Amino acid sequence: MALSLFSKNKNAVLARCRDDYATRIRLKYAPYYLAMDGQHGTHIRLDGKDLIMLASNDYLGLSFHPKVVEAAQHAARKWGTSTNGARISNGSRTFHLQLEEKLASFLGREACHVHAAGYLSCMSAIGSFAQKGDVIFADKNIHSCLWDGIRLSMATVERFSHNSPDDLRDVVATAQHPGPKFLVVEGVYSMEGHIARLPELTSIAEENDCFTVVDDAHGFGVLGRQGRGTVDHFGLNEQVHVVCGSLSKSLASTGGFVAGSREVIEYLRTNSKQTIFSAAISPGQAAAAQASLEVMQSEPEHLARLWANTAKYRAMLKELGLDTWGSETPAIPIVLGSKERVYSFWRTLLDRGVFTVMSIAPAVPAGKDLIRTAISAQHTDEQIERIGEAMAYALKRL
Ligand SMILES: Cc1ncc(COP(=O)(O)O)c(C=O)c1O
Repeated sequence: MALSLFSKNKNAVLARCRDDYATRIRLKYAPYYLAMDGQHGTHIRLDGKDLIMLASNDYLGLSFHPKVVEAAQHAARKWGTSTNGARISNGSRTFHLQLEEKLASFLGREACHVHAAGYLSCMSAIGSFAQKGDVIFADKNIHSCLWDGIRLSMATVERFSHNSPDDLRDVVATAQHPGPKFLVVEGVYSMEGHIARLPELTSIAEENDCFTVVDDAHGFGVLGRQGRGTVDHFGLNEQVHVVCGSLSKSLASTGGFVAGSREVIEYLRTNSKQTIFSAAISPGQAAAAQASLEVMQSEPEHLARLWANTAKYRAMLKELGLDTWGSETPAIPIVLGSKERVYSFWRTLLDRGVFTVMSIAPAVPAGKDLIRTAISAQHTDEQIERIGEAMAYALKRL
């Protein structure tokens, strides 16, 4: 009896997977998991065809920087390819501590902890601190890793309208709560390219005694002095208690960080399941991130070029009359409003040599189906012109 029940349940799970797979095949166009067969900077090859990458998060274009590549190679030769264990037990190395010190000092924080993925860092930036009985005020559009951190914490969540201090004020007022409170937002919203209205949001958080967490995966390297991020851009270090982010964007590596006061980070080190039960970031990844951090400070031209490219690209999109959802940063969506229009636009761009990423509901709000594009410091003027021509043609084909 027990055996047949198990079998029925197991078959139900298998049927769920089968249905999902069949749906994807029926939809024919499922342009995800496309494997590139070559890359150098913003040049990629897909199915043997040369394309311009217009969807990478390598904002500063450092992933092929000679100093960054050399640092990763050197670290692998010296330390091997993996730490093969968690920081708390057998995986900790002096290069982890060095990277953490450099990141903390760059961000104007006492301490920092590095995880093997940004997703893990941002989850633990909430999950390590919030508990059942606490309340978390979260922007409706935050990244999945922050939602997972919230779920993991078992705290009560109160959502407020995207980037709306007025709504946050209303939500806080109606959710009278005696226990610890948190504010969770992104510095730069990855899909929309919006900069968080941190001055107003943190002021409400302060009035209500909230612990504030900012995920700055897309602001780090892009905003603030030398790319110190959104919190630095607004001069709000005192008002934000924890900043988390990713090493896989401007830092041209893989991994993530959480930065804050010494006590807060020491608490995280012993309470973050994402570090206690997961292997440490590898030598090559840590070295690449540290080298990128050094390049960010010694070669300001990359940040300057990023913003010059962003201005040029944005002006071109405006001239074409495309809806960029009010993006203020190098992460620029092109809102097309339906999955058919998105697919047509995406496909024409691909045929014309430009690689972008589709994002359709429910990944974005209904009616906001879009193509996500991101400009990099490495795009050349000629590439931006070619992108413009491809977009003008794709628009005609819509
Ligand atoms: C806002 C935000 N936070 C965190 C992450 C996770 O970073 P990673 O890709 O390094 O795991 C991402 C990734 O896209 C992101 O966009």
